Amino acid sequence: MAVKILMVCLGNICRSPLAEGIMQSKLPSDKFIVDSAGTGGWHAGEGPDKRSVSTAKGRGLDISKQRARKLKKSDFDTFDYIYVMDRSNLSDVLQLAPAIQKHKVKMIMDELHPELGVEVPDPYYGGPQGFEDVYDMLDEACTVAATKILKNHK
Ligand code: 4NP
Repeated sequence: MAVKILMVCLGNICRSPLAEGIMQSKLPSDKFIVDSAGTGGWHAGEGPDKRSVSTAKGRGLDISKQRARKLKKSDFDTFDYIYVMDRSNLSDVLQLAPAIQKHKVKMIMDELHPELGVEVPDPYYGGPQGFEDVYDMLDEACTVAATKILKNHK
């Protein structure tokens, strides 16, 4: 069975769509499924923010076909790894998670800087550079996360 990885942010239109595309690009698609969701459902059914689409395109990734959805309780059964972007996501996701699934949830930047509590900032209200910075952070963290996951599922 495929290993399933879920990327979570607040709106599922800025950060987690980038994280989904980046993580997908680092893992073979026959063995790993990567998806994303938001703790909020305001943008459900929408494509990613055009600034995320444009940033990804500039790095050679097409994320335009993704559609936003809200995190649901069954996600904790379905997914093996659940990565969140910031402490607010972490608290929201852990609140929804059944006790025995809480260990699956981790802040993505912890993969790169364990224990430092680095957050991926929400770029929604800022300019385009914010999206480039988010991409760089996620790219670094996903490289480490993908290497670890590949090793765990040899
Ligand atoms: P994201 O950014 O969590 O990275 O997708 C946001 C996008 C939209 C909203 C908040 C955050 N919003 O409140 O609409």
